[in-house]
Amino acid sequence: MKIGILTSGGDCPGINATIRGVCKTAIRHYGMEVVGIHSGFQGLLTRDVEQITDHSLTGLLNLGGTILGTSREKPFKKQRAVTVEADKPTLIRQNIEALGLDCVVCIGGNGTQKTAARLAGIGVNVISVPKTIDNDIWGTDVSFGFDSAVTIATEAIDRLHSTASSHKRVMVIEVMGHKAGWIALYSGMAGGGDVILLPEIPYSIKNIGDVLLQRLKKGKNYSIVVVAEGIQTDGKKRAAEYIAQEIEYETGIETRETVLGYIQRGGSPTAFDRNLSTRMGGHATELIATGQFGRMVTLQGDKVSSLPLEEVAGKLKLVTEDHDLVVQGRRMGISFG
Ligand code: F6P
Repeated sequence: MKIGILTSGGDCPGINATIRGVCKTAIRHYGMEVVGIHSGFQGLLTRDVEQITDHSLTGLLNLGGTILGTSREKPFKKQRAVTVEADKPTLIRQNIEALGLDCVVCIGGNGTQKTAARLAGIGVNVISVPKTIDNDIWGTDVSFGFDSAVTIATEAIDRLHSTASSHKRVMVIEVMGHKAGWIALYSGMAGGGDVILLPEIPYSIKNIGDVLLQRLKKGKNYSIVVVAEGIQTDGKKRAAEYIAQEIEYETGIETRETVLGYIQRGGSPTAFDRNLSTRMGGHATELIATGQFGRMVTLQGDKVSSLPLEEVAGKLKLVTEDHDLVVQGRRMGISFG
């Protein structure tokens, strides 16, 4: 068999480990030929590919980013003008045929799952692997990249404690997550946040102010507020800036903000993510070898498995108020707004 592999959407730690997992299993175990497609679905439109050999797979396990490059090309997105490239899905199908690919492995987030499902719908053999630091892909308990992002964010929060304490300030830190609060919840709890704001749970500045003033009364001279980038704001400022200004106005306590940004997506994956990537990559290849196409690899409990793409695509996995970290956090006096 000859398979293609691409990475699409925002990068994250563990993509290269997944490429390695897919390709080493394909080449060594199943004797398949592998072609790397550059820049996500963009490379399928332009046939920008490279042959992957065992040699190309050296040094990938702990390498950040993606050796194949990525883009946010969405070939099924409606084109405004009817141009030569208007029918991108057909072009992609033709190119896959011309390249002689029996299957394309798509490593990506929610947008990629949607595109992969649409490709499956027009008869292309696809397998997808869920990748995002946001952990918001429905159908899998965890996506690789999440643990690395949480580890980085937790370390950042740890570092804010000492400077917050020295200056007797409120420190607001904004973490990524798109519309989901997974990174904020996990890093906020692991980093000892006093207030954790998630897009899924409504907050009031008055409540937050009361919590922070109460802490002062109890002699706790500083506080840490962890906010997800996707929380409701005035629509103009970034989440951290908005919350910090509102807190200072409400309480009069000196407040500073930090936006962690792309540091959460860069660099080496954690050991957990390396092993998850390796297992998911291997499973993707096994699905291909057994002819099970149109599926997304999943982690359910500790079992790597898969689900039909049409069941997964277009759905978001969000934090719910009955999540045990939220429940336990509340029991311990942590405010969710
Ligand atoms: O989905 C991953 C993510 O890093 C989100 O957390 C963030 O909102 C978004 O991507 C940023 O995307 P871009 O790379 O387009 O700036």
